Amino acid sequence: MISLTPKVWFVGAGPGNPELITVKGMRLLKEADVLIYAGSLVNPELVALSGASVRLDSWGMDLAELASVMEEAAKAGKCVVRLHSGDPSLYGAIVEQIAELEKRGVAVEVVPGVSSLFAAAAALGTQLTLRGISESLIVTRPAGKTLDHDQIEEFSRLGSTMVVFLGTEKLAAITKKLACPATTPAAVIYHASWPDQKIVRGTVADIAQKAKDAGIEHTALLVVGGVVEAGKSGYTNSYLYS
Ligand SMILES: C[S@@+](CC[C@H](N)C(=O)[O-])C[C@H]1O[C@@H](n2cnc3c(N)ncnc32)[C@H](O)[C@@H]1O
Repeated sequence: MISLTPKVWFVGAGPGNPELITVKGMRLLKEADVLIYAGSLVNPELVALSGASVRLDSWGMDLAELASVMEEAAKAGKCVVRLHSGDPSLYGAIVEQIAELEKRGVAVEVVPGVSSLFAAAAALGTQLTLRGISESLIVTRPAGKTLDHDQIEEFSRLGSTMVVFLGTEKLAAITKKLACPATTPAAVIYHASWPDQKIVRGTVADIAQKAKDAGIEHTALLVVGGVVEAGKSGYTNSYLYS
């Protein structure tokens, strides 16, 4: 049965490479009449593939403005796509948008995407969970303008793989907080999956300086843990192929 409730599609754009959006995401992007995208992180090449006649960068728009644009278009029967970088469930601020739209009688459906976290693991050619090294993954971010306290120090005592988002400008402060051994492998991946992707490898002791020397100042992930050097030693073959 076709739903008559106006609807907005929240679509994960993937980490940057336009081929890393899902097939469903690409179909919706092409079918869209109205496209709203997070300009700083969504590749313009992807926006250019959209069939939407209205394309809006959400930078600088507040929640009420965003919701009004989406509500009006959805209620006029348009196909409305809200494109979020990576996977919308990670640092995507979608819940507040969904709540605001639902308050206005507009439904939302979310299409997942490939997070930059997975593009970073692919760039490193490793697993984030690896038998004998780490069975767990911590995804976190440092304190800053919008977060009073972080748990980086506590998490770093657990020996799990750790991926830190939203911290490129604070790498020195973040690595100082890490309580794991200073020799723990670490990597910074800038613009994972983009043509100008950079990978810097090091240890907790030197990764911040190495990233600075490489000129990395934004849009990067810090990965900490033995999996960064996987392939060298320390892991155990899985049961899968034994
Ligand atoms: C607002 S968050 C959005 C994360 C996104 N939802 C995801 O799943 O990748 C933005 C942060 O994600 C990270 N990021 C996004 N795209 C990236 C990429 N292609 N390579 C490395 N880090 C990226 C950076 O830490 C950036 O500051």
